[in-house]
Parts: sequence; C-alpha cells; structure tokens
Amino acid sequence: MNKGKVDVLLGLQWGDEGKGKVVDVLTPKYDVVARFQGGPNAGHTLEFEGQKYVLRSIPSGIFQGDKVNIIGNGVVLAPDLFMDEAKALEASGHELRSRLHISKKAHLIMPTHRVLDAAYEAQKGKDKVGTTGKGIGPTYTDKVSRNGLRVGDILENFEEKYAKAKARHLNIINSIASNLDEEQRFALNNQLTTLHKVEKKWLEGVEYLRQFPIVDSEHELNNLLKSDKSVLCEGAQGTMLDVDFGSYPFVTSSNTICAGACTGLGIGPNKIGEVYGIMKAYCTRVGAGPFPTELFDETGKTIRDLGHEYGAVTGRERRCGWIDLVALRYSIMVNGVTQLIMMKSDVLDGFDTIKACVAYKQNGTQIDYFPYNIEECIEPVYEELPGWKTDMTKFTSEDQFPKEFSDYIAFLEKQLETPIKIISIGPDRDQTIVRK
Ligand code: GDP
Ligand code: IMO
Ligand code: MG
Repeated sequence: MNKGKVDVLLGLQWGDEGKGKVVDVLTPKYDVVARFQGGPNAGHTLEFEGQKYVLRSIPSGIFQGDKVNIIGNGVVLAPDLFMDEAKALEASGHELRSRLHISKKAHLIMPTHRVLDAAYEAQKGKDKVGTTGKGIGPTYTDKVSRNGLRVGDILENFEEKYAKAKARHLNIINSIASNLDEEQRFALNNQLTTLHKVEKKWLEGVEYLRQFPIVDSEHELNNLLKSDKSVLCEGAQGTMLDVDFGSYPFVTSSNTICAGACTGLGIGPNKIGEVYGIMKAYCTRVGAGPFPTELFDETGKTIRDLGHEYGAVTGRERRCGWIDLVALRYSIMVNGVTQLIMMKSDVLDGFDTIKACVAYKQNGTQIDYFPYNIEECIEPVYEELPGWKTDMTKFTSEDQFPKEFSDYIAFLEKQLETPIKIISIGPDRDQTIVRK
C-alpha cells in the first residue's frame, strides 16, 4: 500500500477470480475503495462471520468499518438494481448513505438498454456473446456514441432527457425486431409488454439514488491523494473480457485492464502504485467464446463441483479448465501487474496431479505468446505437476504448506516472472494467507 497513490486490483482471467473477497481483505489498509468499470454484470462474493454477500455495483470495501466507497465515472449503473442491492445491505445493518459516493459522470443503464441487449443477442443468433443481459453493451455504446444519460442528469430536466433516449431506443428495438424470426420477436415483445413495470421500479431507483452523495469523484479522489490518503481501485470482470485485449468479440464492453482505472476514475497513470493481479489456481469462463484449456471431461466437472463454479449473477454453469499461463503472461503484460494473488487453490487439494498450460500449439507450431486469434487451431501444451493431496483450508501460515504446493507456487512464479504474494485457501475472509 502506498500513501498518495492508488493500488489497482483486477482479474487476470475471464472474471470471477475472487476479486470481491480480496478487496474486502485488503480494505483495512486503505482509506477509500473505488470501482472503476463494469456494472451489475459483476457478481463479487464475500464471506465472513458465517454470512455471504454478493455485490454487483457497490464496491467490496463497504463492509469494513466506516470506509468511503466510490462508484466511479467508468461504471454503468442501473438504479433499480442498485436500489435492491443497497436496500438489502441497509436491511442487514450496514450504513451506506454517507459513505457510498456516486460519480455524476457514471452512465445510467435504462430499462430499454436491457431490451436492446436481448435484441442484439437475438440478432447475433448462434454467434451470440452470452451476455448477462444487464444492458451493459448498449449502455457503453450510448456513452461512446454520445447518446448516454449520466447520473448527473437526474439533477436537471431528467424526464425530458429520459423520454428522448427511450424513444430512440424503441426505434432501434423495433427495427431489429422486424428482422427477427417469430419466436425471437415474441420474446422481445414480452420484454416490451412488461417494460412499464420495470420502468416504474427504475424511476423509484432514480429517486432512491438522489439520497446518496452524487459527487465529482475525480476531484474527490485526486484531493484525497494530495492529502496522502491511499485508495484501492476494484476492477470487475477480467482481462480476457477487456474490450480491447480480451477474446473479442466475446468480451464485455469496458476496459477491464489497469488503464481502465485511469479513465474510470480520472486518475493519472503516475498515481498508480501496486497492480494486484488475481487469478484462480485453475481457470473458468461464463458465456460463449474461446477457452483453450477448457475441460469437457470428469476433471472439468470435478473442478466445477468442488469450486461451486456457478455464476453469481445468472446462476449459469461456469466452464472450467486448467490454468493457462500463456493467457496469464499476456494479462500480466497489459496490466503491468506487480504482484499476484492466487485464489481457490483449495479446490485442487485432492488432485493426484495438476496441469498447467505453458504454451500453445497453433497449426502445429508451438508458440509461447498470446496470439490474435485463439478461436481456432489452438492446442494447449501442458506441464504436469504432482498434487499436494492435503486439506489446506484451515492453514494459517505458508510454513504449513506441503512441499508439492510450495513447488507449484515456485513453478508459477518462474513461469509468470511475478511474485505470488497472497494465497486464498477458502471463500472466507479468514482463509487468506499473506506470504512473507
Ligand atoms: P469475483 O467476481 O472475482 O469477485 O468472484 P466471484 O465472487 O464471482 O467468484 C468467486 C467465488 O469463489 C465466490 O463464490 C467466492 O466465495 C469463492 N472463493 C473466493 N476465494 C475462494 C477460495 O480461495 N477458495 C474457495 N473454495 N472459494 C473461494
Ligand atoms: P465479475 O466482475 C464473469 C461475461 C458474460 C459474457 C460477457 C459479456 O463477477 O468477474 P456483458 O453482460 O458484460 O455484456 O457480458 O462477459 N461477464 C462475466 N463473466 N464474471 C463477470 O464479472 C462477468 N461480467 C460479464 O458472461 O460472456
Ligand atoms: Mg463474479
């Protein structure tokens, strides 16, 4: 942790690496936690004192004392879903209204953005992305095409701006619908028929939003840094879902990489201190798109069962596979990762052997870098390591690690040329080992 700097914590794979848990664990060292991109497509799970929480738009530092948490300009916010999430936390005794600050420049996800999300997916047919259906893509599209509504817009002439944006969306939806088949059109029409109900709750959400400090978060954050405070930036999704560097077009619509913290919070690159890269000891992916190390056999199923690999937002089965060091080296490179955090090693506690993909074979040629196209002709080249066959879930220090596990860590550090500083051995806040 560096005073007067921001440290950035982000996922290095296809999301769900365990970012929420680690942000919660690290928050006591920081003055402020800030989310910089994504929206309610995220599901960040935290467990402590026998309770489990899933956060979607609210930063994962919210449970630690009275720390201020900021929703930055790079985030897209759905007022109705935000209201549900915040009210549930308030009901469980967590005070939010003074310490959850929301950027005026964050864009609003409108109900019609969610219908548009479904319409674009239907239009793509078999090539669909498998989005979370939360309207993420259409909201970021409106932002970039200069048609978006921002949180600051709710403070002035909001009804007029909303009606104009909604009419524009309905035009697009109708034009897409006219080219869909009957079944798809029917599904879309159903969403339009219930739109007024969704809209009613959404507008309640807008009113609810007004009760929170709506701020110029770029000024707030830079003033904090000037007075030597420390900030932890929380990423959502993962590097392989980044709109520029991920497995395009099977990605989300924001920059999930470290640079996203600069644009999503208004912080200069020279203010970035540590970059924590989070990875699982294996790999998962939700939704469509290439996944070179995916396992379709019993081992994949065992990982899914032991790791409870089901989506926190949609409940979908997560696709499971071995750790992919080629993809991780690429992620470490584009993020400038300074230290690694390895999650869910306990899931592999019972395995006889463990595989790690160290290179790809592309059209028969071995490569050790992440290529432009990973959709076809990629065959992982594995190295197999002995398993540690030890239940580590109650360990409290790295001195207790079996030799095979220490060797596995050393192997990963050498392959990735980056130190692994924290090991997570279970979902609970306490099941975290910080290495010396
Ligand atoms: P995020 O989106 O990156 O915050 O990750 P998710 O919350 O979507 O998914 C991670 C899942 O793994 C959650 O259910 C966590 O409770 C759980 N989890 C986190 N760390 C560990 C760990 O070290 N071991 C196990 N078994 N589960 C973990
Ligand atoms: P967290 O923050 C895993 C995936 C979706 C889909 C693609 C695009 O919990 O790690 P979108 O709705 O963003 O347009 O969907 O991205 N996706 C995630 N996968 N974890 C997430 O977030 C994700 N957010 C989006 O499944 O493939
Ligand atoms: Mg998640």
